[in-house]
Amino acid sequence: MKAIIAAGGRGTRLRPITWTMNKHLSPIANEPLIVNAIKKVAAVGITEVAININPGDTEMEAALGDGSTWGVKLTYLEQQGGATGIGVIPYNAREFVGDDDVLFYLGDNIILGSLQRFVDRFKRDDLDCCLAFSEVRDASIFGTPVFDDNKTLVGVEEKPEHPQTNLAVTGIYLYKMKSYLEAFANISREASKRNEYEITHIHDWFLKNNYKLGYEEITGWWKDTGMPEDMVEGNQLLLNEMTLEEAVIDPTSSLVEDTRIQGRVQMGKDCIIGANVLIRGPVKIGNGVKLENCYIGPHTSVGDGVTIVQAEIEHSIVMSGSVIDTPGRIVDSIIGHNAQVTHAERTFPQGKRMIIGENSQVEV
Ligand code: DAU
Repeated sequence: MKAIIAAGGRGTRLRPITWTMNKHLSPIANEPLIVNAIKKVAAVGITEVAININPGDTEMEAALGDGSTWGVKLTYLEQQGGATGIGVIPYNAREFVGDDDVLFYLGDNIILGSLQRFVDRFKRDDLDCCLAFSEVRDASIFGTPVFDDNKTLVGVEEKPEHPQTNLAVTGIYLYKMKSYLEAFANISREASKRNEYEITHIHDWFLKNNYKLGYEEITGWWKDTGMPEDMVEGNQLLLNEMTLEEAVIDPTSSLVEDTRIQGRVQMGKDCIIGANVLIRGPVKIGNGVKLENCYIGPHTSVGDGVTIVQAEIEHSIVMSGSVIDTPGRIVDSIIGHNAQVTHAERTFPQGKRMIIGENSQVEV
């Protein structure tokens, strides 16, 4: 079995972060989001993985390299024609997949548990396709299953106004490649409300044409990180999964004596922790971070080279190189690379000064 991970698309719902960065590279628990997908695929023994990228994208390869860090061989495939929908991605990768089976994983999905159960089911029942369902609050923003009166799966719909269940079809799919190609030959972009090759149309076609489609429910958590609040929640979920028993501080980092570190805190190299700092885990702190007179609360990840002074911050993602130097508590926030959040009263006239890119959100 080979794997394809989707890492293209426009990321419009995550602007402004995605103006300058592919969303799959945005840090979640201090690792690029897509690394979760790579690790999950590697954990079921798949070694050949294609990453679907936008045409001309070079940052993905620069960030992930040849994949040896995770014990896989990565191949980068540009999505011909750009972001025309996820349904076409395995078709574009048909030479890479050859006659093998394929695990197709949407790179913005985060799953806690193992994929093994899905792979086992796919093989045991000799399926054409295996889907993974997950319970969600609102299935109308996802692909979602349709059952008949006997609770038999008879169709799937993409983002219906009135979903029949609270189940989402997650972005984890297994196919026999030959079957997928037969389905692909029968779907069109025109049939989609958003003019995309819909993966849901592939699955619906399987069901309407008596192919063997099975499904399993995801029992642990699953998260589609489509919106900024999903990113922050995904960060929380992954930090919760840190397997540390206690704080792990790299010995090259210096801490003053009265530093209070509570719970599971991981701190990288060369950090300088000054007076009056409280860090309450689960928290991940990168390399070369400077903290003074501040509180870093649960479910916060702090990237390399960040400075935090005076501030309190909780349940947030702080990306590398940024500076936070202002009193008051920041919550549920994403601070982009090299951003500065400083105190207004230092300069006259007093007032809030902002240089905010398009689609930014600030609650003051
Ligand atoms: O996350 C699960 C949902 O993913 C499913 O429930 C839906 O049935 C499925 O259509 C998909 O819906 P989204 O609207 O969330 O898909 P999105 O456009 O966000 O793209 C999903 C991933 O695929 C994301 O990692 C970006 C990537 N992508 C997207 C497009 C449109 C590509 O690589 N190429 C593309 O052309």
